[in-house]
Amino acid sequence: MNVRTVKSRWLLCMVVVAACNGEDPTTVTFTDAEMTKIEALSPAPGAVDDTTNKYATDEAAVDLGHRLFFDPGYSGPIVVGDDGMNGGLGAVGDTGKVSCRSCHLGDWLIDDRSQPNGTSLAIDWFIRNAPTLVNVATYEKQFGWVGYNDNLWGKNLIPAEFVMGTTRTAIVRFVYDNYKAEYDAIFDTPLDDAIADEARFPLDATPLNPMSAWPTMDASDQAIINQGFANFGKALAAYLGKLISGESPFDRFVAGDDTAISESAKRGLKLFIGKAACVECHSGPTFSDEEFHVTAVEQIGEHVLPGPDYDNGRLGAVDIYLGWDFNTAGPYNDDSSVDRTQGVTNDPALSGAFRTKGLRNVAKTGPYMHTGHIETLRDVVVFYNEAGAASGFAGERDPLMVPLNLSDQEIDDIVAFLESLTGEPVPAQWLVDPN
Ligand code: HEC
Ligand code: HEC
Repeated sequence: MNVRTVKSRWLLCMVVVAACNGEDPTTVTFTDAEMTKIEALSPAPGAVDDTTNKYATDEAAVDLGHRLFFDPGYSGPIVVGDDGMNGGLGAVGDTGKVSCRSCHLGDWLIDDRSQPNGTSLAIDWFIRNAPTLVNVATYEKQFGWVGYNDNLWGKNLIPAEFVMGTTRTAIVRFVYDNYKAEYDAIFDTPLDDAIADEARFPLDATPLNPMSAWPTMDASDQAIINQGFANFGKALAAYLGKLISGESPFDRFVAGDDTAISESAKRGLKLFIGKAACVECHSGPTFSDEEFHVTAVEQIGEHVLPGPDYDNGRLGAVDIYLGWDFNTAGPYNDDSSVDRTQGVTNDPALSGAFRTKGLRNVAKTGPYMHTGHIETLRDVVVFYNEAGAASGFAGERDPLMVPLNLSDQEIDDIVAFLESLTGEPVPAQWLVDPN
């Protein structure tokens, strides 16, 4: 190629930028106003200082939580067995097969075992996709797709009773039988030896099942179980506090390394905070406003809630959340100055609303959305470009969900930006089974 053709190709690039696919020589620049928006998204966050859990940074609690996370011993009987194709965890009726790790797998703690993997199979099929637990401890006040709880330790108790086929009483008994020494060394009140008395503490007892022995138990015995159960969640939360990913290329860019991300990613960033308005919901260093929005995600997938009612998201979660003994209004919160239940109501506008997902490491954590039916990041951006699905979801589409009129190049640029959010992985020591 002689100098003339190089020069004319260069000129062509300046005119038809989209045709040059990454060879665009122009450097993207940002205005001061844009830089202010960009700086609000970095640096990579650490675990929040969770005053509602006074054991959140206790190293002995971290170790206990690490063991409990990998321990399948406390799970109940399997309802949907392994059929050779679904990734099931055992035969129908088998117990002790499901740990937290079963659905939060690999370096990024996602479920790539269940088939199809849009939603998760443990004891039974669940209706939603398993989110990554990397950086979950960087969220402050909302957990899960619908905010089943407002603090991390209390949120950990939900899968224990809802998807692991067991009860809080059976779990506290399991901890008593297998981890009493470790537990007693950490928590203020040791586990009461009476817990081994199955007449007083029947293993089926949980308030979630009014037919169980729970309503017949003394209130003081119920409190013994709830305290042990809360501490089980606090140890797990201490462990989750270690699952933090480090700095990403995007953070290095914000810190001043102009070459840390590609020109395409920079254009994508400009769209993310500008024309595409992603930052209106994906804000702050976690890339989540921790609020609920109807983004018109169609209920697609074998095990999601089908129509005509669909998955009503946050609306259906409010009563579960407010009725949960382990929210910040309850007696097991270690910081009485924090009560996040104030003002939460069954507002019909919450129908079909889901929590804004954080976007750090998103290139590693597909498939996407609560349905897990969107396979690639490009398809996610195409979804937003089309203002979400036309129908097939509960509730009223958020006013921010409008057609974006992005070109193919602009879609690729946003994908390149999302890919620049992959941080250093969690230290390997936290991902090995300690048992
Ligand atoms: C069925 C497989 C499965 C098992 C087993 C499981 N989870 Fe999950 N986990 C999920 C799914 C699915 C969600 C999303 C639920 C929702 O919000 O509707 C989730 C969400 C979470 C979240 C919230 C993540 C976020 O982004 O806010 C935490 C924390 C969590 N799980 C911890 C645990 C712990 C601790 C255990 C063990 C006690 C566990 N999980 C066991 C599937 C599972
Ligand atoms: C109105 C608020 C809002 C806007 C605007 C918005 N998002 Fe989202 N985003 C959400 C919510 C809520 C979810 C979870 C939706 C669900 O699963 O039902 C989500 C999910 C995602 C996911 C999937 C994450 C995962 O782990 O499954 C990606 C990727 C994403 N958004 C990227 C973007 C991009 C890129 C834009 C701009 C083009 C954008 N979002 C604009 C609220 C928003």
